Amino acid sequence: MQRQIARRLAAAGIAEGMLEARLLIAEAVGCDALDLITGRAGVIDDAAARRLAELLARRLSREPIAYLRGEREFWSLPFMVTPDTLIPRADSETLVAAALAERTAAMAGRPLRVLDLGTGSGCLLLALLSEWPAAAGIGVDISEAALRVARANARRLGLDGRAAFVCSDWDSALADTRFDVIVSNPPYISEGEMLTLAPEVVNYEPRVALTAGMDGLAGYRRVLPAIGQRLAAGGWAVIEITATRLAGAIGLAASAGWDDVAVKHDLCGQPRCLLLAR
Ligand SMILES: C[S@@+](CC[C@H](N)C(=O)[O-])C[C@H]1O[C@@H](n2cnc3c(N)ncnc32)[C@H](O)[C@@H]1O
Repeated sequence: MQRQIARRLAAAGIAEGMLEARLLIAEAVGCDALDLITGRAGVIDDAAARRLAELLARRLSREPIAYLRGEREFWSLPFMVTPDTLIPRADSETLVAAALAERTAAMAGRPLRVLDLGTGSGCLLLALLSEWPAAAGIGVDISEAALRVARANARRLGLDGRAAFVCSDWDSALADTRFDVIVSNPPYISEGEMLTLAPEVVNYEPRVALTAGMDGLAGYRRVLPAIGQRLAAGGWAVIEITATRLAGAIGLAASAGWDDVAVKHDLCGQPRCLLLAR
């Protein structure tokens, strides 16, 4: 059955057919994908077969597998995802690693205040809080629907006592507070690039999480000055970029008063985030 499903997925232009076939079957049966390999999976009864047919039809119409499963792993933590939230990308773990690496011995043990601008599922903020047990933070998003998912993720991960979520156009609704660490993965796809995206992205992920105006820089025009105003002395900020936005974002950072900007790369060697320190 796995091979048959993999062939149908491949015919629809979906790569990694065998892996996805296994994930779909596991989701339908209600077991772990590993159970299918080790032969410990349950039987595919009529209900599971119906569920598999429905999941396969949705996947063949290019709905992302993370939305079918309702979950995506990020920083080895399980995050609930819905079509109201961007699906966390493995590349964005570069931001978490960069933020963690920046904590100096002087800051160790200090209860860090963290701000995540454009929190979506809450993945960046919650990954950092999971690593810094004394820290607390705020996740901001313009989408109330995304924030409901972020709050549910905080509860599920046992971090809701240290995470608050605020609906706001970037930092505009926040009180006059400063933060030790600011992270942000703003939308940065240009209108032109939207036409080139895979159907999984352009047809299913929230547009507000993807695109930021004609040049893809509108988010940075708001986030970089906000960081300038809200970063505490001794603090640091990490902002996701992509190679195509690198020069534009560095230029905007310079206009916002950030002359010393470090660029961090992801595991593929691509520029993935800017690091600003005060
Ligand atoms: C690229 S997604 C990042 C989501 C999540 N931080 C992640 O890394 O997976 C950008 C997020 O910014 C939010 N956003 C877009 N415009 C915004 C605005 N004006 N104010 C606050 N959040 C905004 C979107 O709703 C979306 O959740």
